[in-house]
Amino acid sequence: MSKSILIAGGLSPEALALVPNEVDVDFNGHEHPLSHRDLLARLRGKQGLICQIIDAIDDEVLATPGLQVVSNVAVGYNNIDVAAARRRGVVVTNTPDVLTETTADFAWALLMAAARKVVEADRYVRAGQWKVWQWDLLWGLDVHGKTIGVLGFGRIGRAVARRARGFAMRVLYHDTVRAPAEVERELDATYVDKPTLLRESDFVTLHVLLSPETRHLIDEASLRIMKKTAVLVNAARGPIVDEAALARALEERWIAAAGLDVFEEEPQIHPALLAVTNAVLAPHIASASFDTRVAMSTLAMKNCLAVLEGKPPLTPV
Ligand code: DGY
Repeated sequence: MSKSILIAGGLSPEALALVPNEVDVDFNGHEHPLSHRDLLARLRGKQGLICQIIDAIDDEVLATPGLQVVSNVAVGYNNIDVAAARRRGVVVTNTPDVLTETTADFAWALLMAAARKVVEADRYVRAGQWKVWQWDLLWGLDVHGKTIGVLGFGRIGRAVARRARGFAMRVLYHDTVRAPAEVERELDATYVDKPTLLRESDFVTLHVLLSPETRHLIDEASLRIMKKTAVLVNAARGPIVDEAALARALEERWIAAAGLDVFEEEPQIHPALLAVTNAVLAPHIASASFDTRVAMSTLAMKNCLAVLEGKPPLTPV
């Protein structure tokens, strides 16, 4: 029997080129995201689904007769009801590793931009406000030699920590499980509890998965114990931070600045966050480099095809 795949969102041509002739592809593309209803309708009769983080893959989707695999083009998979998939025998895959370094680069881009007011400076110049060199213009925070606190010390957290060595920073980290001693040695990273990390870090960067346990991991109480000069970076998932509390923290200067790639209700953003000048905001693009999007696409396709061919997927969830 020939197999069919629905590609709900965008995917690179390099990935489409991997599809053998005997597999049919229904390619929606990225310009018109499918509603839940349309997704259900288009999925009928397909054995494979390649989807993006904006596609809600709930039990109703997973109940599609004959569906064998859901291949998410992302490392995060909070858009998928993994427990329901397991119950229904549908394989779920994601795209770890291929985006680790790119995401870490972007967390650093946010950190640097927020610390050194890069976006504010750009706005200032474009607005024609730069009339004369000014001694007290747009002072920011030093990064080198400071303390960075990495919350969530998986692949991406460690890649962020590795970059901190180039800035001669002290690295603190916290996670539910302590990293092996050789990793701590290699990254010169010190394990601390969460309150210590928040109290002592000049830069707090978040790299945990979104789960019921990590929802609002950074809440008002956390923000209140951070340094007044601290910068918060979130390139993980929006709901890890209580956005209303963060907006107040930035407005009232409990902390100095934030660099955010993700938000609680994307693409809605808390109006107060849009209003403050001490937040650098990006539209969930941490993994969006040319090379990485191709790598994510091809890995997602290979995962999907492997399952349809009766082989183990490369990167199952
Ligand atoms: C991921 O991979 O989880 C990103 O958030 C989307 O690219």
